[in-house]
Amino acid sequence: MAKTHEIVEKNVGLMIILTLVAVSFGGLVEIVPLFFQKQTSEPLEGMKPWNALQLEGRDIYIREGCNTCHSQMIRPFRAETERYGHYSVAGEHVWEHPFLWGSKRTGPDLARVGGRYSDKWHEDHLYNPRDVVPESNMPSFPWLFDNTLSGDDTGAKMEALRAVGVPYTDADIAGAKAAVEGKREIDAVVAYLQGLGTILSFKR
Ligand code: HEC
Repeated sequence: MAKTHEIVEKNVGLMIILTLVAVSFGGLVEIVPLFFQKQTSEPLEGMKPWNALQLEGRDIYIREGCNTCHSQMIRPFRAETERYGHYSVAGEHVWEHPFLWGSKRTGPDLARVGGRYSDKWHEDHLYNPRDVVPESNMPSFPWLFDNTLSGDDTGAKMEALRAVGVPYTDADIAGAKAAVEGKREIDAVVAYLQGLGTILSFKR
């Protein structure tokens, strides 16, 4: 035994290979089971995919870089759950492409912001955050009030998401354009924000 150990310790190449083997086993043992657990691979009961307007809102959220300042991932620590509500669970995110968990918080986590404020509050806040939170350093997004949606791509976006497992129906896709056409971008963003995290009713 001591001899084998000596061989490994004196042979850097062999040591590197054996280290890699050991580390990959550790990783595989942690990661592979997640692909087969219902808890991490199936949606929560009663969950619905984003509707057409919310889906457009989500794309605007990404376009405007909201996700660079706001995470959507509540960690299972007391300080986080007291402030933001129930910690995030994997089932809430199975239809998110791309997911927006993030790890940097310039502003608060938004995973469960849905229903916390009125639509009017969000509109005022996005028009000029300082109007409602005087010390805020969040940028203003006044153009969201002028830009309107055409809905030309909404159905195609839903079809693409359906191809990767989001359960949109033919009716959802057929009605997508009519559901968003002429709406302002702010309406879409607020609809999306109000839907965030609402599936777990025991919020806080
Ligand atoms: C440069 C960083 C930054 C960007 C970009 C940003 N925010 Fe914020 N956000 C903040 C900060 C800081 C706060 C806390 C102060 C405040 O409430 O305004 C905040 C607060 C919020 C809140 C209130 C959260 C709560 O629980 O009180 C919402 C909702 C929000 N932002 C949405 C958005 C949306 C939507 C976008 C994109 C259109 C966005 N933010 C872009 C920094 C940012």
